[in-house]
Amino acid sequence: MVIRSWLWMLSSLLARLAVVAAQEIPKPGADGRYTISAPGIRAQFIPYGATLTNLFVKDKSGNEVDVVLGHDDAAYYPKDPSHPTYNAIPGRYANRISKGQFTIDGKTFRTQKNDGQNTLHSGTNNWSYRTWTIAAVSDTSITFSIIDKENESTGMPGQVTANVTYSVFNSTWDIKMFATATAKTPLMLTQHTYFNLDAYRNPSTPLIWDHTLSLPFSKRYLAIDSSALPTGRILEAAPGSINDFHSKPNPALGHSRSASGFRGNCGGSCEGYNGFWLIEGAKKGDVVLRLGSAWSGIKAEMRTDQVGVVLYTCAWSDGSANLKTTQGTGNRKKVERSSCIAIEPQDYVDGINRPEWGRVDAQITGPGEVYSWESSWSFGLL
Ligand SMILES: *[C@@H]1O[C@H](CO)[C@@H](O)[C@H](O)[C@H]1NC(C)=O
Ligand SMILES: *[C@@H]1O[C@H](CO)[C@@H](O)[C@H](O)[C@H]1NC(C)=O
Ligand SMILES: *[C@@H]1O[C@H](CO)[C@@H](O)[C@H](O)[C@H]1NC(C)=O
Ligand SMILES: *[C@@H]1O[C@H](CO)[C@@H](O)[C@H](O)[C@H]1NC(C)=O
Repeated sequence: MVIRSWLWMLSSLLARLAVVAAQEIPKPGADGRYTISAPGIRAQFIPYGATLTNLFVKDKSGNEVDVVLGHDDAAYYPKDPSHPTYNAIPGRYANRISKGQFTIDGKTFRTQKNDGQNTLHSGTNNWSYRTWTIAAVSDTSITFSIIDKENESTGMPGQVTANVTYSVFNSTWDIKMFATATAKTPLMLTQHTYFNLDAYRNPSTPLIWDHTLSLPFSKRYLAIDSSALPTGRILEAAPGSINDFHSKPNPALGHSRSASGFRGNCGGSCEGYNGFWLIEGAKKGDVVLRLGSAWSGIKAEMRTDQVGVVLYTCAWSDGSANLKTTQGTGNRKKVERSSCIAIEPQDYVDGINRPEWGRVDAQITGPGEVYSWESSWSFGLL
């Protein structure tokens, strides 16, 4: 009797452990993705890079459209040779660090120069190339977490523990991130989402230039050099100039395509955009960016607690990468140059090295502090 009840207790304990284990490592669907959905929106993710692989919203005909770039095969993300950081979380310090160094409390730290003389996305062990842990999943939300040990991002001090929670509701995709550190470290995160609101099905063009873009709170932007590194100067975009998305509502992204400075505007010999716009004077809840496409009729409205946004119009896509089968048409199967836009709400690029901008303290997180970041995308019709 005693033995039987002991066995029963043991087996029920084992069963409970099995349930806990199953809860701790939820399985993805047969396509290797985790899917969350809500009215008007369906989003899919993989732990590699905490990456959004697919984002389905409704177009003007009521059809589901996959509006972000990615790969069909979830297992291909780590292998992709061109690896444009599709919809992943770069970290622990996004974008560039000039000359691969920064100074905290008088001590200079050296990071890896993986982008000419500069560091990009914290070097070759960046978070977008790591497999994150799944911390929680429900039908409408998923949380990934990561531990970045001291010097695992080469040269970075202290251990950082971070998480990102993606959730969906009412045609909205919300992104929240938190991070803590065991020593003072530069910490600047973003979600590196690549959009084409036509899913490459607009028969007249695969390019992004017919999309419209409004930045109602972004008169000013950071000047960049030929390696897309900020020079330190903050410029104001004159009405109608290449970098003006402020003076008129919903200008075409390609409004200055024929301007002489359009080539080279992105830093280097490429065309289009690869820079940082300041978001100034926005109140909590204001839409700070609106992307639209008349062809699909879809508009995407961004809200964020960040002080700026990086825009990159895919000048380095060279037509070699395949589109997902959820995108493109019969004879359009590749990611052509300038056919997408990456939108990354974040703090000032290289602000860690620019005390004159007043962002150094905001870009350093130390023991006892919690870094937080939030942005959301609401989809609707133009
Ligand atoms: C990120 O890490 C990968 C893998 O080490 C590396 O190939 C890549 O150059 C790194 N940098 C960027 C900007 O993604
Ligand atoms: C940090 O890692 C790099 C290799 O990624 C190594 O060369 C360097 O010695 C390490 N530094 C410290 C302080 O451990
Ligand atoms: C859903 O979003 C639309 C558009 O923003 C809004 O008009 C509507 O009230 C929202 N519905 C709910 C249930 O929140
Ligand atoms: C994410 O990190 C924050 C800050 O460390 C923590 O309070 C929160 O519980 C974490 N969330 C999840 C779902 O792990």
